[in-house]
Amino acid sequence: MISIADLKQVYRDGATTHAALRGVSVEVAAGEFLALLGPSGCGKTTLLRCIAGLTEPESGTIAIDGETVYSAAEHINVPARMRDIGMVFQSYAIWPHMTVAQNAAFPLRYRRPELGAGQVRERTAEVLRLVHLDALADRPAPALSGGQQQRLALARALISDPKVLLLDEPLSNLDARLREEMRFELRALTKRLGVTTILVTHEQAEALSLADVVAVMDDGRFMQISSPRDLYDRPRTEFVAGFVGRANLVPAEVIATAAGGSAQWVSVSTPYGVVECYTERPRAAGERATLAVQPEALAIVPAGGDLHGAVTGTVEGAAFIGDATELVVRVGDTVLVAKVATTDAPAAGAAVAVRIRAQTCTLLS
Ligand SMILES: Nc1ncnc2c1ncn2[C@@H]1O[C@H](COP(=O)(O)OP(=O)(O)OP(=O)(O)O)[C@@H](O)[C@H]1O
Ligand SMILES: [Mg+2]
Repeated sequence: MISIADLKQVYRDGATTHAALRGVSVEVAAGEFLALLGPSGCGKTTLLRCIAGLTEPESGTIAIDGETVYSAAEHINVPARMRDIGMVFQSYAIWPHMTVAQNAAFPLRYRRPELGAGQVRERTAEVLRLVHLDALADRPAPALSGGQQQRLALARALISDPKVLLLDEPLSNLDARLREEMRFELRALTKRLGVTTILVTHEQAEALSLADVVAVMDDGRFMQISSPRDLYDRPRTEFVAGFVGRANLVPAEVIATAAGGSAQWVSVSTPYGVVECYTERPRAAGERATLAVQPEALAIVPAGGDLHGAVTGTVEGAAFIGDATELVVRVGDTVLVAKVATTDAPAAGAAVAVRIRAQTCTLLS
């Protein structure tokens, strides 16, 4: 549905230039939900604006539903209003002088000029019902809460029934509870409508919970494009392991291919014991690599428990975060971050034994 190939974009400001996109390529299937996840300034908004036709790239191609909307080589650049796209901007961009219904209906003026007043009213009511704002249709738009404005921006993006929905941090201004509610609603809504969606976020929980596929960006490049599960369980680089989750990066040396003979499971020796872990490519014995150990891959051995394969350390800090507790455990001159169920959490200062759980970690490439 959306096909982006080797897209590059450079901002020029007088003599200084900044490469915001350094050759990104991605395919998004029809009806698929893609999240662009990356730190501030990595080029997420720039990419979204290029797809929408609001920023002209430097080179590469963009095709939507089989139609090339941008190609530097072929000198094609379809204007934004001719692209079949609905967009929610980070700032919502809601018109303050209009009512809720007038805001929602606005894109129909240029997208569906053939519609009569009755049809516009009907379509507006329908889309406001979809985002649960039908009761507020006649209210002036500024008299909405942040969450309601967010829904209104979504209604406006959906009203012309676009093939593609682009969302730039649409949930960032909501409180934690509303944000979680809207996450579920947003995913359910896009799936019900079958609209191909790209969402920009710098929050990993949002990307992992909403998307079918996550593209992790850094400094104008895609670092990894994977399913949420694979991204978390099978990161390929230190950047992804650190940005998605909070992996401990542990030096490791391959001992042998694990029992069963699968080349994807190998035993490695680490300062915290020998552990069986996943590797994307086959490894030779003696090869050195970094092991990504997510905090919940560390188990605290209970007092009197089996110490085989465990190392001992001291709890330097314990942060209660509700159902779980994050521990900083000092082992020799290194520290490990562990996440355990609060009911099992040792107190700060306690001497503990920790073990890396078998088959929970990945060797980085
Ligand atoms: N109009 C502009 N002129 C010059 N540089 C720009 C312009 N817009 C963005 N940039 C720069 O390009 C880079 C990418 O910006 P972009 O807005 O795409 O980042 P982002 O990933 O959306 O970040 P954030 O998460 O903070 O919104 C940044 O370094 C930014 O400073
Ligand atoms: Mg941005």
